[in-house]
Amino acid sequence: MNRKKITIRTLKELHSNNTPIVCLTSYDAQMAKIVDEAGVDLILVGDSLGMTVLGFDTTLPVTVDMMIHHTSAVCRGNKTAFVVGDMPFLSYGVSDAETISNAALFLQKAGSDAVKLEGGENMAPLISKMVNLGIPVMGHIGLLPQSVIKEGGYRKYGKTSAEAKQLIKDAKALEKAGVFAIVLEGVSDEVTKQITGLLDIPTIGIASGPSCSGQIQVVNDILGLFTTFIPKHSKQYVNGAELFQAGIGQYVKDLKSAQFFGNN
Ligand code: KIV
Repeated sequence: MNRKKITIRTLKELHSNNTPIVCLTSYDAQMAKIVDEAGVDLILVGDSLGMTVLGFDTTLPVTVDMMIHHTSAVCRGNKTAFVVGDMPFLSYGVSDAETISNAALFLQKAGSDAVKLEGGENMAPLISKMVNLGIPVMGHIGLLPQSVIKEGGYRKYGKTSAEAKQLIKDAKALEKAGVFAIVLEGVSDEVTKQITGLLDIPTIGIASGPSCSGQIQVVNDILGLFTTFIPKHSKQYVNGAELFQAGIGQYVKDLKSAQFFGNN
């Protein structure tokens, strides 16, 4: 597929034409190349890296160095998709100076087009400073994986009226602060619909129903690249683990039976 580099302007055009914005995570150059060539609009180098690639139980152990290493690889593999690098736990919000120098590593060292960080109204003043300095920022509200230990686990957000009101306040504060899009994760379908209708910027959903301007999925989930954890919200298009195990199993058999150099 021959297409032009996707920019914030392209994302705005897709949104104003009501064309769904297709987003997917990637963590390395090869996968980014495949994802980009398949026509995905936005690649997120998510800190889900911690679980999908690095074998951690949560995103909390992921560091800026790990994210820069993988974001750089994705940027080398990608040609046209818009690339967003996820700022990991405690790499933002501790001090403005540290936040900005960490965000600069994503844009200047790794080569991403933007950064994403978790949080609503509480993060708006910081995001406003970042955007004023020219850093494109994507917001993320609802289920915040970096707060999963503090929250006591994973759940749906926006089911009570107090929580729904706060989510709407969060979304409006982020839009005012200048984010170019907001990820809504694990937000009730009803509140997602309300937020999407209230904002002029795109909403990107995951486990938040069908009303968003776009959807994001974790690439390992849609390709079935796991042998134990089966995420409820995702749609599996390929059973990657089964395919890979069959291929590798055949390789093992071929070598053990001296067929590898024979009739293949
Ligand atoms: O880290 C990640 O992959 C994410 C998406 C699930 C939105 O934040």
